[in-house]
Amino acid sequence: MPTVGETLTLADLERDPDGILARLRREEPVSWIPSMKMWLVTRWADVEYVDNHPELFSARTEPSFLARALGRNMLTLDPPESTRARTAMLPSFQPRGVSGRFAAGELAELADSFIDAIADRGEADLMADYAAPLASASLARVLGIDAEGWEKVWDWCRGLCTDLANFEDDPELRAVGDAARDDLGEVLNRYLDEIDDHSGDCALADFVGARPEGGPLTREEIINNVRLMISGGINEPVDGIGLLAMTVMADPELRSRLTGNPALWRRATEEALRLYTPVGTITRQASVDTVLAGSAVAKGDLVSGVLRSANLDEARWSDPTRFDIDRREGGHAAFALGDHRCLGEWLGRQEVRVGTQRLFERLEGLRLAPGEVPVLTGFEFRGPTSLRVVWDRVRYP
Ligand code: HEM
Repeated sequence: MPTVGETLTLADLERDPDGILARLRREEPVSWIPSMKMWLVTRWADVEYVDNHPELFSARTEPSFLARALGRNMLTLDPPESTRARTAMLPSFQPRGVSGRFAAGELAELADSFIDAIADRGEADLMADYAAPLASASLARVLGIDAEGWEKVWDWCRGLCTDLANFEDDPELRAVGDAARDDLGEVLNRYLDEIDDHSGDCALADFVGARPEGGPLTREEIINNVRLMISGGINEPVDGIGLLAMTVMADPELRSRLTGNPALWRRATEEALRLYTPVGTITRQASVDTVLAGSAVAKGDLVSGVLRSANLDEARWSDPTRFDIDRREGGHAAFALGDHRCLGEWLGRQEVRVGTQRLFERLEGLRLAPGEVPVLTGFEFRGPTSLRVVWDRVRYP
């Protein structure tokens, strides 16, 4: 009799993960998946344990797609090595830093400008025509490279991600990733040359001026970690906006509560991030032989902590697959739980919340286009592939 893990493939998980993950939590919470050559860890407590024990489960995996495609960066190191760049870069993404000033002063205006661009059409694909431009332009503005235009930033993101998902090392896909990596590196070098002389109100200038233990960040540290931000900090807010917009369009009662009390958008954002968990997993490698929830994990094995599953764990959440804006059960795992917890968490939340809220405030009668049925795909990254919508009227601020 095969184990549950032996019957699973990545394709099954990409199509419809939730039923499979529920079965794993019940029957095989730490499960070896031969077709993926890794363990899947599916209960909240065990995912949290993996994320909080870097001495057992290392982010310095071998091989590392992240290090190959982007260059060595904080997500490919363990503390204390990873802490240096993290400490230096985190303030720019918090409310008191450039992200805070951006969210307070410019984010809603930027959202409005992309709404204005589609307003007269009366229909759009929210993912491609709105969420992607907004998330690309937001990160570009915070970094201080907005003069490049959001399209270029989005192209870099897609190019880098092509190589990150190149599990079979296809040379053509690798070339796409290399071109994005090199082009972005050149552009960043140009910006950094100028910042060395005079600083500005942007994250790149903060990175140059930061003085973490061990001295200023090197060019390589800055560039590799900005590549990480561009590959990882755009798709997620895009999916987040799509997931939250999809949820609100499907639930008239939720929509009228949000209209009556806009402060609830914050909770709606958190609950959509919990329920759909746009980044599905964290990948680590066992650095010693160890036992996790009764399963013997060997040194060198890859271990995937499934954040999506932790966010649906019946042991932590009541009625976990229900969207419940009144839920009061503590924080979720969509931004992870340990040393590599998302650096852009605060900014990402603002983009999803403000980006989605502006859509519903300005596009009266926003709804799915006739015949459009949102399809969620992906295991590692999950969101609607497209979201074709129509509306009746546009409100101008
Ligand atoms: C809704 C939006 C977002 C979600 C759901 C999300 C999710 C995550 C998750 C789950 C991780 C942990 C990965 C791991 O441990 O393997 C992570 C790490 C990271 N995220 Fe995000 N992210 C979002 C937005 C952003 C944004 C806007 C940025 C821009 C700077 C960003 C930058 C990063 C970086 C640099 C890391 C690595 C942190 C480290 O290694 O210490 N993310 N993110």
